[in-house]
Amino acid sequence: MKLVRRATVGILILLLCLPVLPTALSDAALQRAAVTAKFTSASSEKKIDELLRKMTLEEKVGQLVQYSAGQPTGPGTGRTDYNDMIGKGEIGALFNVTAAREINAYQHLAVERSRLHIPLLFGLDVIHGFRTEFPVPLGLASSWDPDLVEKASRVAAQEASASGIRWTFSPMVDIARDARWGRITEGAGEDPFLGSKLARAYVRGYQGKRLDAPDSIAACPKHYVGYGAAEGGRDYNSVEISEHTLRQYYLPPFHAAIDEGAATLMSAFNSLNGVPSSANPFTLKQILRGEWGFQGIVDSDYTAVAELMPHGIANDGATAARRAFLAGVDMDMVSSLYHDHLAKLVRSGEVPQPAVDEAVRRVLRVKFALGLFEHPYVDETKEAGAMLRPESVALARTAAEESFVLLKNDSMSGKPVLPLSSDAKNLALIGPLADDPGNILGSWGALGRPQDAVTLRAALAERIGAQSVHYAKGAEIIGGSDDEMAEAVRSAEQSDAVIMALGENAGLMTGEASSRAFLGLPGRQQELLEKVVATRKPIVLLIFSGRPLTLPWAFEHVPAVIAAWFPGVQAGPALVRTLFGDANPSGRLVVSWPRSVGQEPLYYNALSTGRPPGDGVDPNEQKYVSRYIDEQNSPQFPFGYGLSYSSFSYGNPSIDKTQLSAKNLNEALQTKVLAQKESLNVSADITNKGNRAGTETVQCYLRLRGTSVAQPVRALSGFQRVTLAPRETKKVSFRLGPEAFAFWNDQQKFAAEPAKVTLWISADSSQGTPAMLEITK
Ligand code: BGC
Repeated sequence: MKLVRRATVGILILLLCLPVLPTALSDAALQRAAVTAKFTSASSEKKIDELLRKMTLEEKVGQLVQYSAGQPTGPGTGRTDYNDMIGKGEIGALFNVTAAREINAYQHLAVERSRLHIPLLFGLDVIHGFRTEFPVPLGLASSWDPDLVEKASRVAAQEASASGIRWTFSPMVDIARDARWGRITEGAGEDPFLGSKLARAYVRGYQGKRLDAPDSIAACPKHYVGYGAAEGGRDYNSVEISEHTLRQYYLPPFHAAIDEGAATLMSAFNSLNGVPSSANPFTLKQILRGEWGFQGIVDSDYTAVAELMPHGIANDGATAARRAFLAGVDMDMVSSLYHDHLAKLVRSGEVPQPAVDEAVRRVLRVKFALGLFEHPYVDETKEAGAMLRPESVALARTAAEESFVLLKNDSMSGKPVLPLSSDAKNLALIGPLADDPGNILGSWGALGRPQDAVTLRAALAERIGAQSVHYAKGAEIIGGSDDEMAEAVRSAEQSDAVIMALGENAGLMTGEASSRAFLGLPGRQQELLEKVVATRKPIVLLIFSGRPLTLPWAFEHVPAVIAAWFPGVQAGPALVRTLFGDANPSGRLVVSWPRSVGQEPLYYNALSTGRPPGDGVDPNEQKYVSRYIDEQNSPQFPFGYGLSYSSFSYGNPSIDKTQLSAKNLNEALQTKVLAQKESLNVSADITNKGNRAGTETVQCYLRLRGTSVAQPVRALSGFQRVTLAPRETKKVSFRLGPEAFAFWNDQQKFAAEPAKVTLWISADSSQGTPAMLEITK
């Protein structure tokens, strides 16, 4: 207790000293101070001291116990006696309760019946919207638009909090390099730089300006850590990541979210280098709390504490509880093992009492920060009015439009297939996702309802008249009959053009426990596609999926293809506006799109091997180089890729220095003020050569050579969305500070080193004219 009070005072002093001592504090110390300041206050720490003095050991343990009291999202616990437990102060948090009335009912028990009147914290997986469903996170990320992500998560927070939910298990900030992993749909893809920017945006959106505002909810970056690197892309599988790779690629989005003030964090299911993440003192204690200064709650993932037994590091529940707790997991989600064993472990001396007090302090701290002690109840009369507000639905449409990635748009009869002409009539609409209001919401739909969603069929009929839409399902997502398929072919034959809506089943094939070993179109959809293509009509293929799908045949034979992901409630209107050119596609891939499953894991920011295939040399002519004999190394579409109805050119690249010094960069890294000075400005002129306004996402990449640890062939270090009128040119500049040139070196230090640097400003991770500079000693 004393320590924390002293630390708080210390932090206040640090912050007060900031203006006068800008260069004396290390960046790390500044960051820790800022993180701590986000949700601690001297007055609440004092109240926590008082409560801790009054609490029995059982009541303390109660604060560390969490159950699902609604639709379970994992294996059950067998417990149903929540009312009784809450009355005794044996539960600190509940989740999966979704209605204000029920939440208030539980809260009344906690506040009125329990001895110390400590409110419960209610959580839910509000992943891409609460009632107004936005595109799945992978789609939302494809917008490369942190403002949009922030606005969408603000809407999610407003709706969820109106139902009494003050905690979301989001954002998922796991770096995902393998499209087989079903949960790739829940994250921001493969890049730590973009992932960090979006992680911050989610936290800002959920937590708002003040955590204690009634419409703010606590964020919970997850799954800490390495979960996205499950071997073979199989969910829950083991993970091996070196410390270097962990620090350089997997940790940054977590660190960013914590630095932005995320009040909680979820520890993952997977084992990391043999030690389960939910019992891993290196990541939870040394890095998260020690290096980053995190002061909020670490919540285990669903039954992750009990899973230490099948993992093989605990032979009984008591050991599992002890190992998770001592490693730094404050709250036990669902396992019930803290409830069953923690008090006994304290009494037997196996768990120190002060450690329990500290964990309870962190839980209470978040409850105070959310204002739950002052305002434990939600106003039930405001619940319904908060949902699906017109401005929220409008934002969902914009978000969907920004999420679409135009992958291909060839010309037929001398003009690109898309956009469709505004007077297009007589269109065939084919495929199982054309009129499926459930699947278009994506996985983890919270309270999203199919009846709120507008399908492509409905929106197209609205636009061109039902009589002009020749709809035929053609096949189920899995299965379907010859007759259905024949009908679809007939409808294509009778139409001027065909829109096909094919893809995955969101619930079965994407999200948790939905890893796939084959990434083609499920069921008979490939057969359907080939039959429809054989009609030789102009075809637009819309791929609805939670991941990139390997569709080499489609990319060869279908002239226009859009990755639509799962777009949410406004799927139909957003797609129709895009098809007809009212919206101009601006999404860019946040994952490398594979040609074959055998290329996975596939990511652009890979290391070079010692035997890279030669540039411009036919790979088939090369032996003893790092390549497949039966597949290309390159992806179907690279990270950062996406077309537009406009076309953009890049000119006048310019760079204001060709030398930087490692010594200066490292000094600058220590202090924020110097960091501003030691930077490089790089710019290019971007021109919209098309005849309609369009948005280009301009990307800046770096490569360092000659360093102590090999650096990736490219690393994203800046991006900007820029909207240009027809034939307009804008100068786009990036200021690259010392962080852009530093990396985790062979001493596990984040520092700059002498290096040769290649720099690109480009439209994706595979293009651009390189500029060279040098980092000297
Ligand atoms: C998932 C988490 C989720 C939790 C609670 C787990 O199965 O891995 O992402 O937040 O359930 O629903």
